[in-house]
Amino acid sequence: MKRVLITGATSGIGKSLVDIYIHNGYEVVATGRDLTKLATLKKQYPSIHTLSFDITQLQQVLDAAEEVNSIDQLILNAGNCEYMETVNPFDSALFERVIRTNLLSVGYCLEAFLPKIKRNG
Ligand SMILES: NC(=O)c1ccc[n+]([C@@H]2O[C@H](COP(=O)([O-])OP(=O)(O)OC[C@H]3O[C@@H](n4cnc5c(N)ncnc54)[C@H](OP(=O)(O)O)[C@@H]3O)[C@@H](O)[C@H]2O)c1
Repeated sequence: MKRVLITGATSGIGKSLVDIYIHNGYEVVATGRDLTKLATLKKQYPSIHTLSFDITQLQQVLDAAEEVNSIDQLILNAGNCEYMETVNPFDSALFERVIRTNLLSVGYCLEAFLPKIKRNG
């Protein structure tokens, strides 16, 4: 059985990917921060593995990876979407949040999870 790890699996695109991969016979590792939503997913699909961590926190990501056996596929989908109402004044805090979540965190996840991918995965 092939195993896929999907970040941002608690809603939206990630949740839909969980549905699709389960129905295609994959073993799924579903990740997010929201424990209630992860528990709901686990209730819906008892076979899935769930992991809760914040992708913006490198140590949390590394610790979570310790819990993961080898995987065939890695889908780094978790992210946020915040729009700037104006460019002047520029909201650098919002800019930092978006870049941290959608870009830097991808690096954290690659460091932690790429070593888990099987040969030819
Ligand atoms: N929907 C679209 O049309 C669209 C179009 C282009 C790009 N995108 C991008 O695709 C990604 C997914 O979109 P979506 O619409 O499915 O978004 P969504 O429904 O808001 O889901 C975002 C997912 O990412 C997780 N997440 C967010 N921040 C996190 C963090 N710091 N640590 C861990 N998990 C985090 C959330 O989990 P928790 O809440 O459990 O932490 C949730 O499962 C986003 O980056 C979005 O910007 C979406």
